[in-house]
Amino acid sequence: MSERDTHTRAGYLPFTPAGQDAATEILAELRETTPVFFSPELDSWVVTRHEDADRVLRDSTAFSSSGALGSPADPQVAERLAHGRVTDGATLIGWDDPEHARMRAMLAQAFTPARARSLQPVIRERTERLLDSFASQDRVDVLNDIALPIALDTVFDLIGVPEALRADCFRWSTDWGRLHGAVLEGLDQTEQLVLARSAVRLHETMSELLAARQDTPQDDLLSAVLAEQAAAAEPLSDIEVVALFPGLVFAGHETAANLVANTLWLMLTHHTGTDTLGAAVEEAARLESPFSATARTTKCPVRIGEVDLPAGERVSVHFGSANRDRRVYNKPDAFIPTRPNLKSHLAFGRGPHFCIGSSLAHVEVTTILEALLTRWPDMALADQPTRAGHFLIRGFQSLNIWPTGRPTETGHDHRRM
Ligand code: HEM
Repeated sequence: MSERDTHTRAGYLPFTPAGQDAATEILAELRETTPVFFSPELDSWVVTRHEDADRVLRDSTAFSSSGALGSPADPQVAERLAHGRVTDGATLIGWDDPEHARMRAMLAQAFTPARARSLQPVIRERTERLLDSFASQDRVDVLNDIALPIALDTVFDLIGVPEALRADCFRWSTDWGRLHGAVLEGLDQTEQLVLARSAVRLHETMSELLAARQDTPQDDLLSAVLAEQAAAAEPLSDIEVVALFPGLVFAGHETAANLVANTLWLMLTHHTGTDTLGAAVEEAARLESPFSATARTTKCPVRIGEVDLPAGERVSVHFGSANRDRRVYNKPDAFIPTRPNLKSHLAFGRGPHFCIGSSLAHVEVTTILEALLTRWPDMALADQPTRAGHFLIRGFQSLNIWPTGRPTETGHDHRRM
């Protein structure tokens, strides 16, 4: 009997709203009975415990990140992408060393915590302006009307994408994201070629913006990377420099926006005060990890927990499950912002691929939430939100609130739930 025969567990289907809801319970059981299991639906092994997840994420000798987000299997699509100089790495997530180490070092020198903090006033101002525009509204969808547009503009501000190009870049990025899930979604070749065209346009646009910044630098990430390149003893190749930017749009947009909504939902349902906002965000990242899982491929025979895997096996590391492991967290399913080991979660990854945008994510999420909670101290949930049912992103379809409290016949009830 092979390891697959012994450890296969069917029924883990996190692709639908109902599947997402059920996933928490299914994973809780599997963490105890079959912590490393083969999922026929995902066609991948799934790692569910904190210790095993931590180990896989740190070990880039035994585990490759290449194709971490899924690659198109169709050769004609792959050829179209290669011809358009689209690499598989999605910024850095899908690269291995030695390229990953060189590219990451270059990006990290330009994308510093200070650069992330410098975006804070713009995020605050943009949020305030948006809140002004909702002054007369009884009901607001915090996820779609506030968090998503602000998170998207923040990534574009960071990179230096002009306003006029943002709508197109967003569409191309969304298409490219769908292309990564083409196999799971069952897209045919024609559909994939259309999406590949978008990926090429996104890369061409970043390349054109870089060329423009060579002549006229600005205060943005494109210019900062070019300055590092000019000073570097071993500069990156042209393809590698361009590759740093397109993936930032989806890496840093839905993740941050869903953390805003997930945190607010937890705070409103638990009546959490605003004095512990930073801790609430951290605990929400653990409990409702917006980036649910990543993937690796075994490079050599390797043992994870009690399972021996040969080379070439796909392994999905489930951050969301690891973050609810009772071996690490007391009352793992409870929202407790005062936990002593608040920061030991894996919501931003671990090891060489640890989220390079985590400083920006923290600045962004706390700034948006602070503005919301200050402006609308009596806000209340307008309905019970429905899960979105996206495999990689854990969040809701919408998060509707009553900004000034629950409406009553005589005015507004100022209780939060
Ligand atoms: C709440 C928001 C965010 C969450 C939960 C999150 C989560 C993660 C996780 C779990 C990884 C590791 C992936 C892996 O090991 O395969 C990662 C990597 C990454 N994140 Fe984030 N992220 C967030 C925001 C951002 C932002 C705002 C940006 C940039 C604007 C960003 C850019 C990246 C990049 C480029 C990587 C790849 C790093 C590498 O491979 O070296 N992320 N993120």
